[in-house]
Amino acid sequence: MDPSFRVVFYVLFLTMFYSVTDAGFFSAVARLGKLVQEEREIVAAVKQHVQNGGKVSADMKRYVDSFDDNNTVPEPDYIAHHPVRAYFLIKRLSKITLSETKKLTGKEVQLPTVEDLHMTALALIVLQDVYGLDMRSLVQGQLVMVSQSTNGAEPQITEICGKDPTFTLDPSDTYYIGEVACKENKFYQAVLWFNLTLEMMREKEKSLLKIGDEQTDRPGPRMRDVLLKLADTVQKIKWDRDVFMAVSQLGATKANAEGLSHLSNLLENAVSSLRKPIRTEIPHINYENLCRLGVLKNQAPHPTLTCRYVRPTPYFYLSPAKMELLHERSPLVALYHDVITDKEVNKMRDIAFRRMGRSPVVADDGGEMFSRSRVSETGWIFDTEHPMIAKLSRRVGYITGLDVNLPYGEAFQVLNYGLGGFYEPHVDYFRDEQPVLLTNGQRIATFLFYLSDVEAGGATVFTRLNLTVPAVKNSAVLFHDLKKSLAFEQDSEHAGCPVLMGSKWIANKWIHTHGNEFRWPCGLTPEE
Ligand SMILES: *[C@@H]1O[C@H](CO)[C@@H](O)[C@H](O)[C@H]1NC(C)=O
Ligand SMILES: *[C@@H]1O[C@H](CO)[C@@H](O)[C@H](O)[C@H]1NC(C)=O
Ligand SMILES: *[C@@H]1O[C@H](CO)[C@@H](O)[C@H](O)[C@H]1NC(C)=O
Repeated sequence: MDPSFRVVFYVLFLTMFYSVTDAGFFSAVARLGKLVQEEREIVAAVKQHVQNGGKVSADMKRYVDSFDDNNTVPEPDYIAHHPVRAYFLIKRLSKITLSETKKLTGKEVQLPTVEDLHMTALALIVLQDVYGLDMRSLVQGQLVMVSQSTNGAEPQITEICGKDPTFTLDPSDTYYIGEVACKENKFYQAVLWFNLTLEMMREKEKSLLKIGDEQTDRPGPRMRDVLLKLADTVQKIKWDRDVFMAVSQLGATKANAEGLSHLSNLLENAVSSLRKPIRTEIPHINYENLCRLGVLKNQAPHPTLTCRYVRPTPYFYLSPAKMELLHERSPLVALYHDVITDKEVNKMRDIAFRRMGRSPVVADDGGEMFSRSRVSETGWIFDTEHPMIAKLSRRVGYITGLDVNLPYGEAFQVLNYGLGGFYEPHVDYFRDEQPVLLTNGQRIATFLFYLSDVEAGGATVFTRLNLTVPAVKNSAVLFHDLKKSLAFEQDSEHAGCPVLMGSKWIANKWIHTHGNEFRWPCGLTPEE
């Protein structure tokens, strides 16, 4: 075996092996779709059991009663593709125990874990933040994107999905989401969620005077707890002496309506003076704007600017590829329409789904790790597994004019993104400090097939080129990771925007320098 080939194989094998352990319902929307179906079986089994005079626990009874079992049951995707509906799915299923569910259904079932609920809450935090979702609407399942303009004009408001009459987040949900934001060190977002919790509680109570004498048997958080939590979080962002004093005084006394009311007023001022922290590093400065633009492009398909038919190799004389040149040189970015059929898409998704595990990122030492910066699941597919897959690899070779056979090209990496799933700005070439894969040559180009449409969000954005490519099923994007001189193409930096609604599937093929020396001619200057 060629030693470089062995390295690739070893790394791929490790990826497959390790990743399986860290997968959850949150990390692939496709898993959630299956969970929706499983839930129906669980509910039917429990109801049958009760009808036959069997007994169930109080938690199980509450769960089944809360399940809306009308004949007009929506498609699984209706729930799995929507972040708030998915949150409710995971929340209600995390309230029942695995042992009782197994006993009642007589089946091996997998239920969401505490981590699933945590990560689903994190998805809501990220989506709200990146897309500027209006929080009062979000509580009702309505997705409304609010883009503040920089020049003082009215904000642009885009409704992506209407209200859902079947549920609303209540203060215990928004409080929980705030706590998750705190644990993730997203203090500004935590302030927003706690502030929203207070607002919702006040509306319920109608009067601030009542806060001292709340009934203690009501479920959900206490006003006092939320105020203290908000105060604590505000202090983490910007220390405020008055808030500090008010909190200390409250600590000395027990429930004290006057003290709480005073703290509440102080916090109102403190919160209104906070501003969203802006990340000014190059990758992030454009990221959110480009992602929001992706949502708008989803809604109104853009007119093609430079769409033309190309015949890269004789293979395409009969059926030319529809290529749209998005960035002409350094780096080349090209979009190909209709380059993969529905049948091929289904085959790839099927093979990958059976072996998917959480996607790792390459760590600075060349090893692999799981990161909050990449929420998706991965399955690798080799050409030898199915003639259709080999044919797809050949197609990538014909289009790019490069040798994509192992080890010059990697196996297909098929991904399904998770709830709110995204991949932060990154480059595909291995940086100098990541030595492991270098024996096999650098990644020279990336060919990315879109294996699904995405209802909203999930665009691929090039953060330095100021370019947004919406995910459109059956299309593909090609870009170069290195310059002709083989220097790093830093402008190839790109990101996968958070999936706002839908299930995003893609397949990557990375092509390496080795084996392509003669197909990748040198330029005249290092800048080329
Ligand atoms: C389900 O059916 C019940 C009674 O038949 C009705 O009250 C409820 O609104 C229905 N829910 C939905 C979501 O249609
Ligand atoms: C905090 O909540 C108040 C209502 O209680 C609202 O008017 C204000 O806009 C909220 N502040 C932020 C930053 O969301
Ligand atoms: C990116 O493109 C948008 C829309 O074409 C434009 O308004 C904006 O100024 C550009 N930003 C940069 C940094 O080039």
